Amino acid sequence: MADERPVARTKHCELSLDQLAEIQPGLGRLMPEVSERFWILYYAAKEGNWGLAQYQLNGVRNLLRIGAITRPKMANYLNSFSQGHLSAVEKAIAARDLASFEQAYQKAVEGANAYHNATGHAEIEWKLPPDPPQHLELRPRQAKDTPNDSGQ
Ligand code: HEM
Repeated sequence: MADERPVARTKHCELSLDQLAEIQPGLGRLMPEVSERFWILYYAAKEGNWGLAQYQLNGVRNLLRIGAITRPKMANYLNSFSQGHLSAVEKAIAARDLASFEQAYQKAVEGANAYHNATGHAEIEWKLPPDPPQHLELRPRQAKDTPNDSGQ
């Protein structure tokens, strides 16, 4: 009988579902992106670009959600970080309150490093890079920059 297991085809090869599952990113691949977004989030908030801060926070959440799927043993940790520390940061973003943002952010950094320790990665201690990212405008866009229909 012919093998009817589904395969995905690329121009290079055929991949089984198992192979596709195997190459989904684990935390080792997701965390550098979490780190980048979490860094940008801080400097966006500091410059008052709350929209960009929220956008980065959503990105971090999505990455953690993917991690919880591909690494289910870590799901409890990832979900409680998201619901606890990240929600506190999100609340400060919504309130546009820099003082409580700074506090919640600092606690989130400590929380993340406590999870690194708890998951057997005491060697990983994240710290906020001292410089803001250079590739994004961090200040909020002024209303005058928004294009209108007349092209003016
Ligand atoms: C915003 C919060 C977090 C940041 C900024 C962050 C940052 C990082 C960074 C930079 C790495 C090293 C990545 C590399 O270059 O290989 C890492 C690894 C790791 N993180 Fe996080 N992390 C965060 C939250 C968490 C949470 C909540 C957990 C809970 C499970 C976690 C678990 C891990 C694990 C297990 C690794 C090792 C991954 C591996 O190589 O298998 N992290 N993290």
